[in-house]
Amino acid sequence: MLPRSLIDFQQSRPHARIWRVPGRINLIGEHTDYHEGWVLPAASNRDMWLLAEASVFPEWRLYAARYGEAVTLPTEDPLIRLDHWSRYAAAVLHTVAAHNLPVCGMDIAFDGDIPIGGGMSSSSALTCGLLCVLNEAMSWDVPPLQLARLARESEHRTGVLGGIMDQYTMLHAKAGQALLLDCRTLVSEAVAVPAEVGEWYIFDSGVSHDLVHSAYNDRRAACGRVVEAAVRAGVEATHLRDLEVDTLAGLQTEVQSGDYAKACFVLEENRRVHRMAAALSAGDDVRAGQLLIESHAGLRDDYRVSCPELDLIVDRLCEMPGLAGARMMGAGFGGTVLALLQSDGEEADFSHIAKIYGATYDRELTWWKVRFGQAVARVG
Ligand code: GLA
Repeated sequence: MLPRSLIDFQQSRPHARIWRVPGRINLIGEHTDYHEGWVLPAASNRDMWLLAEASVFPEWRLYAARYGEAVTLPTEDPLIRLDHWSRYAAAVLHTVAAHNLPVCGMDIAFDGDIPIGGGMSSSSALTCGLLCVLNEAMSWDVPPLQLARLARESEHRTGVLGGIMDQYTMLHAKAGQALLLDCRTLVSEAVAVPAEVGEWYIFDSGVSHDLVHSAYNDRRAACGRVVEAAVRAGVEATHLRDLEVDTLAGLQTEVQSGDYAKACFVLEENRRVHRMAAALSAGDDVRAGQLLIESHAGLRDDYRVSCPELDLIVDRLCEMPGLAGARMMGAGFGGTVLALLQSDGEEADFSHIAKIYGATYDRELTWWKVRFGQAVARVG
């Protein structure tokens, strides 16, 4: 449903187009996309909504309802303010110009319930949404995969060298399904998520992952050093995707132990993606839960992108009877936790965890049951 905060804008511009973009969840395959590995994401039931109307002025007038703030950007060569939400819109304008795609002036308002800095990629939702608005308004006729690439390129202009999982998912997801995506070929296969596997929940730690940018790029660099060591040893490789487990083991003494551990995590996580797809197809909730637990341990100890708040939530969840498994989701250093609960038809109660969490970190823990949503769509 259109957020109430956008109703005034809608009433003052009855011809504005309405777009809904889903937040991304990821069942497994964390920090593997930019190593050209595999991921298993889906669209969530949390969305960003954009209202957009073309204008005759050579500028974008943007209103971020969540911040109650309006910004005007010239459509030509706008400043990318790296510390401000408008950077995604400015970056889109630069990307579009670099590809010689025509733009027009726009009045745009947006809001939604995807947690900000929460591991569900509210930033990609905005970037993908703006590109879809333009694609239609300017009749570009650019297909979804190319839009996903343009969205990733735009986000790179804001300084985070992320992969393509989020944008691809938002542009391709189908209801009730996850996407087994090969991030090298960019070919995906739909994987049904059967109800008998259990119920999926998201827990929002309320910790916004502000520090993630540099740490994220550091992880890229660490794995890049391992690939370079492989190349020096005569292996043909451009990404960790090209390394076999044995090849990597042979490099252990050639690279720093921290870099080695990170590379091992990526290779293991890639294997877990395929195992999770098989577990879902077999309706095996126990196996699916184990894979989540293994993934979290690797993200915490080897890739080192978790944080004490996320660890507490995962640890307490895993003590609950009927809880198959849980792990941090998204880039890390805060954000959200994904959990799989074996379904017994009863409404799950997590309030005791919220109590412990509140007492330890003086923060509120919120959660909701996931429905696997659909790709971006114009809904009005
Ligand atoms: C962020 C990035 C994605 C992916 C995840 C971690 O969401 O945008 O490309 O790397 O982190 O899996």
